[in-house]
Amino acid sequence: MTRHLITSALPYINGIKHLGNLIGSQLPADLFARYQRGRGNEVLFLCATDEHGTPAELAAAKAGKPVAEYCAELHEVQARIAEGFRLSFDHFGRSSSPQNHTLTQHFAGRLADAGLIEEVEEKQVYSIADKRYLPDRYIEGTCPNCGYDKARGDQCENCTKQLDPTDLIDPRSAISGSTDLEVRETKHLFLRQSKLRDTLDQWIDSKTGWPVLTTSIAKKWLHDGDGLQDRGITRDLDWGIAVKRGEADWPGMEGKVFYVWFDAPIEYIACAGEWAEAHNTDWERWWRTDKGADDVTYTQFMGKDNVPFHTLSFPATVLGSDEPWKMVDHLKSFNYLNYDGGQFSTSQGRGIFMDQALEILPADYWRWWLLANCPETSDSEFTWEQFQQGVNKDLADVLGNFVSRVTKFCRSKFSEEVPAAGSYGPAEQALIADLQARLKRYEDLMDAREVRKSAAELRAIWVAGNEYLQSVAPWTVFKTDPDAAAAQIRLALNLIAFYATLSAPFIPDAAASMRAAMHLDGPAAWPSDVAEALSDLKPGHVFSVPEVLFAKITDEAREGWETRFSGGRAG
Ligand code: MF3
Ligand code: ZN
Repeated sequence: MTRHLITSALPYINGIKHLGNLIGSQLPADLFARYQRGRGNEVLFLCATDEHGTPAELAAAKAGKPVAEYCAELHEVQARIAEGFRLSFDHFGRSSSPQNHTLTQHFAGRLADAGLIEEVEEKQVYSIADKRYLPDRYIEGTCPNCGYDKARGDQCENCTKQLDPTDLIDPRSAISGSTDLEVRETKHLFLRQSKLRDTLDQWIDSKTGWPVLTTSIAKKWLHDGDGLQDRGITRDLDWGIAVKRGEADWPGMEGKVFYVWFDAPIEYIACAGEWAEAHNTDWERWWRTDKGADDVTYTQFMGKDNVPFHTLSFPATVLGSDEPWKMVDHLKSFNYLNYDGGQFSTSQGRGIFMDQALEILPADYWRWWLLANCPETSDSEFTWEQFQQGVNKDLADVLGNFVSRVTKFCRSKFSEEVPAAGSYGPAEQALIADLQARLKRYEDLMDAREVRKSAAELRAIWVAGNEYLQSVAPWTVFKTDPDAAAAQIRLALNLIAFYATLSAPFIPDAAASMRAAMHLDGPAAWPSDVAEALSDLKPGHVFSVPEVLFAKITDEAREGWETRFSGGRAG
């Protein structure tokens, strides 16, 4: 038995995520977690809401609520939706937890002791009307380069020039529009990441088998980007984790908080503490290599925009602490899923949001299509037509139809019990051999976290059963040789149970219905010998014909959704 620590990038608190966010981290992480549990391995699967920073404060202000209250509410909302998608977190925590406060301050203290933190006097724009310092991207003005009048203080979207807020002509607050701004001196902490460049370089080089997407982004920032410049890790905000050096106050840093990207990844660790407290167990055996975590395999899942933070900044924090923390072993990153010829966009309400998706169709439809088409080696695209086609073909025609045909045929010609007569012949042996090879391939792909290829192999496993049934045609054989038909149907009923186990990581609800129809309770045992697995349901074993597993998406329904989602999300 192996032990798997699995984390998904933490969804930001400021609203409900869209399907592009879901397939970029949480859903593939869940696939892997369910698979590893299915194989009988020990899994700790963690996720949390990422709750600090300016966007959280602004979203709360927009909702007219105190930020703590807003975050508590949105955390619950996100937790319910995650359940709706059957995301099987062992714990869904909060980066605002007491555990994360303590741990973040602890790391800052360790980094300071190691000489990796520098105090820097900075000039920053203060908005008198908003009574706050403005982060660069919340200052707007005219671009000195191209004249675009909505350039942001960090960059001009129009001509892409990198800017400093002080470069802008006629600067104003993007929050209130106020031009009553002044530049003030303020002190901040900088993490001296540049001192860790060689350490990070070696660490990344030691990683084999990471996706090219991951290593290429990491190396780019390490060598020719400015990703390894020393980085400000504090902010002048109210909401966040107070800047302390371990448990001690930090003179000169009163009223300041840590930058959200400093504390958020630390929540991966703190979340295990939250989980352990809730379950009265030990978290260090997952996270401390001096306390048993050396045999843990740790996999992180995230979108490509998160890669620099997970390959450079967070490792800098952890390595810089010089404590024996478990480091990530596999960093699985994803490209973007686009929506119907453009991008999913939270700010523009473009695309399908997680709550809306569940209003339309059960989780399994989305899980299957998104995973089977996930943006793994390049960006991919959601279109309603392809979604309809994929669901109808794979889930309704192939898998759902197999289950219903086999159970109904057996009920009408034999009974709702596995028939006893006949025995497996050459056609069955050939199918078993084919499935044995496919099972191995499926396991290898799932072990390698190859999401799309795994889905394709699973689909092929379903198709193999359909083709077998089509070619032996028990409905015809029955007329002349009912015993042979009985053996064929016995095998097919066993295939339903086999499919349930293999498919559960992708479509857990349908898999549960399939097992329930086969009157199987308790956890499924992962098959190893296919011949054995396909003789598991013994003659006389009772089953029921299940409800339709997957209804087809009609053209009418598809067109309705297409229209409904073309206008962007209201509010
Ligand atoms: N909230 C970030 C995002 O949505 C991801 C945070 S991941 C973690 O892009 F490292 F901070 F945890
Ligand atoms: Zn410009």
